[in-house]
Amino acid sequence: MTPLSLQEYLSREIGYDAERMDGTPDPALARLITGISEACKEISAKVREGALAGVLGLAGSENVQGEDQKKLDIISNDIFVEAVSRTGSVCGMVSEEVPEPIAVRDDLPLGPYLACFDPLDGSSNIDINVSIGSIFAILPAREIKRTPETADFLQPGTALVAAGYCMYGPQTILVLTIGRGVVMFTLDDETGIFRQTAADVTVPREAAEFAINMSNQRFWEKPVQRYISELLAGKDGPRGKNFNMRWIAAMVAEVHRILMRGGIFMYPRDSRNPERAGKLRLLYEANPMSMIMEQAGAAATNGHVAIRTIKPTSIHERVAVFLGAAEEVERATAYHED
Ligand code: F6P
Repeated sequence: MTPLSLQEYLSREIGYDAERMDGTPDPALARLITGISEACKEISAKVREGALAGVLGLAGSENVQGEDQKKLDIISNDIFVEAVSRTGSVCGMVSEEVPEPIAVRDDLPLGPYLACFDPLDGSSNIDINVSIGSIFAILPAREIKRTPETADFLQPGTALVAAGYCMYGPQTILVLTIGRGVVMFTLDDETGIFRQTAADVTVPREAAEFAINMSNQRFWEKPVQRYISELLAGKDGPRGKNFNMRWIAAMVAEVHRILMRGGIFMYPRDSRNPERAGKLRLLYEANPMSMIMEQAGAAATNGHVAIRTIKPTSIHERVAVFLGAAEEVERATAYHED
């Protein structure tokens, strides 16, 4: 039997028709997720072509975080903004690549949602042909209006209606939650259709694998030093078992690994930049990934509280991240309380 297409899944779960399983029909949400999947397909094609399409290398500009923008960062941002705007399902967007909220073009209709996205995550992997991805988060708009304001987006992650990411790796895989578990769709390059290849994805509570950028060790706070040193001590330490380590340097790929085979991923705050709460961005990285984790039975905190309970104060706010296997996240969080 041919696996369900993304279209069929959306129509069954939040459908256009009356033959629905449960809930209220929400064509705007289905259109928005479809639009995002179209953007991901387009980005996937560009990533595959790489140097042949002349899309690798630096663009010669900086983003709002002061990071060098790659050509593909900018191309992916333009693709996302256009595709999301055209759905008629949003009245504003926030992108990692753009300092202020983005309005929908005047000639296009508005809809009841706000979209936040990191159009291309893991930029340092682009030019070396290692996995990268796009991350998205969908919030309800409190008011449908042409000019989105910062305040409209400052909602805690608990308000998310849907979240997901698309990973451009050996396969292009779209991972989605609309609050009813986590599902995965693999892009069939021949037909251009995303087909469901996993449902009810769950992350075991225990883990034997961790991910952290060890080169920052000397800058970490005490609880993180303690937690990681115990993992490194393996069988001979207080944990009494060995842990393996991985670092891909693209959050999408680390989260994907955790969904497939468990583990914990961390990007703690550190003393390199004491006024910064961490490296990853709350609205379009930490929140959507936290929703996915929670829907898969895993957890996500900033070392103190569940990430999704944090009330954002700015659209590009950063946050410390501990996510994945519930037992490990609980332990790392408890060490912060000690
Ligand atoms: O968006 C930030 C990001 O690229 C994440 O995808 C990734 O987890 C992290 O930064 C990598 O950080 P570092 O450069 O410290 O390895």
